[in-house]
Amino acid sequence: MSRLLVCPPDYFGIEYEINPWMRRSNAVNSDQAVRQWHHLMQVLERDVGVVLERMKPVPGLPDLVFTANAGVVMGCKAVPSRFRYAERQREEAHFEDWFRSHGYDVFTLEEGLFFEGAGDLLGFPDDWFGGYGQRSDIRAFPILSEWFTREILPLDLIDSRFYHLDTCFCPLSGGDLLYYPAAFDRYGQAAIAERIAPEQRLAVPENEALKFACNAVCVGKQVVLPAGCPRTEQLLDARGYCPHPVPLDEFMKSGGSAKCLTLALD
Ligand code: ARG
Repeated sequence: MSRLLVCPPDYFGIEYEINPWMRRSNAVNSDQAVRQWHHLMQVLERDVGVVLERMKPVPGLPDLVFTANAGVVMGCKAVPSRFRYAERQREEAHFEDWFRSHGYDVFTLEEGLFFEGAGDLLGFPDDWFGGYGQRSDIRAFPILSEWFTREILPLDLIDSRFYHLDTCFCPLSGGDLLYYPAAFDRYGQAAIAERIAPEQRLAVPENEALKFACNAVCVGKQVVLPAGCPRTEQLLDARGYCPHPVPLDEFMKSGGSAKCLTLALD
C-alpha cells in the first residue's frame, strides 16, 4: 500500500513569480483549483488505491500544496528541503515539523545548500537521479547519496521551463522512464541512455512536455497524469500502464501538476 503526503489548496495562489510559468496577473480560480485537487485525490484513492496523509494548509504559503518539495523520504529517514527562494523558505519549518511529528529520523542539510526534495531527486530502486542547475545545488547530492546509501547521478536542467527534475523526468514502476530529452544536456541524455534501455525510454513530445506530461504519479501499473497528453497516454498504454488523466490546469499556472502535488512516503 503506497502512502502519499498531500496538502489541500486552501491558500493556493500566484503571489510571487519564481519560475517562468508563474505570472501574478494570471490569477488562480480558487474554486476550480479546489475541485481539481479533490478530483486528483479521488483518483489517487479510488482508482490507484493509495493512502493519503493530509497536511494542514497554512495561510500565506501558497505553494505548500506542492508537497513533492517537502523533502525526500526513504524508510524512516527524511531530509527536508532547503528552498532556493525566500518565498518558499518559509515552508521549510512546516515540512520539517510534519516529518518530526510523524516519527521520521530527520537529517538536515546546512542552510544555503539548496535542495528541493522529491522535485529534484527521483529514481528507480537502485539508480537515483538528481536535477540541478535551476533550484537544487549539485553539492547536495553527494551528501544525500551517503545518507541514503544510493548512487545519485546528477542531471543538469538546461531549460528554465523545466526547473525541477519532476517536470521532465518520471521513473515508472517497471523500470521504464517517461521523460523530455531536450530538458537535459548531452551529458545528461547520455547518462540516462547508459542506465535505461532504449525500449524503456518513453520520450514525450515537446507540446505534451509543456502540459506537464512527465509530472505523473506512478503506482504499480497506474499512472496519474495531467489531462491533454494523448501521445503520452499512448506511450504508457503500449508499455502496459493504465493512464488516468486528470485536469490540473489551475496548478500549471504555478508551474506544477499531479506529481508535484504529492510526496511518496514509501
Ligand atoms: N510554484 C512552485 C515553485 O515554483 C511550483 C513547484 C512545483 N513543484 C515541483 N515539484 N515541480 O516552486
